[in-house]
Amino acid sequence: MAIAVYPGSFDPFTFGHLDIAIRAAKMFDTVHVVVVHNPNKKPRFSAAARVAMISEVLENQPGNFVINSFDTGLLVDYCKTVNADALVKGIRSTVDLDYELPMAQVNRDLSGIETVFIPGDPRTGFVSSSLVKQVADLGGDISKYVPEPVARKLLGK
Ligand code: PNS
Repeated sequence: MAIAVYPGSFDPFTFGHLDIAIRAAKMFDTVHVVVVHNPNKKPRFSAAARVAMISEVLENQPGNFVINSFDTGLLVDYCKTVNADALVKGIRSTVDLDYELPMAQVNRDLSGIETVFIPGDPRTGFVSSSLVKQVADLGGDISKYVPEPVARKLLGK
């Protein structure tokens, strides 16, 4: 049974994240989608709210998902706890690669775990959580960028 961990801030979960989660679930028997506290970011949604949104979004999607969160400790320790075989990250551009590569290298150095990079779909490649929040705040249409349960929350409905 191959197990993957797909971590991120997911503040909020976009169609780009959804695409990566579904594609990861085609390669792994179980995919843990994990909301991780990033001290460099001030989240709009609580970890519990993000877990709830992701759970609703993934409920009817093909694949075996576990949705979880953690806010202290190393990601590799979470990976050990759940016996993960690999980490999964989506890569939209070389900017993502520059950001993700050192993290993949340090995670492997710390624990031996490999990171599988999945190239982002160009159709969602420009979508980021921060841009989606900005568009929502300024009254733009976000329905193309985030799944419906997320759009509802972003619009305070
Ligand atoms: O979506 P993000 O904010 O780019 O995700 C980054 C995240 C949360 C996955 C990364 O910061 C992380 O792995 N944090 C956990 C703490 C950790 O293990 N740090 C050392 C190795 S990167």
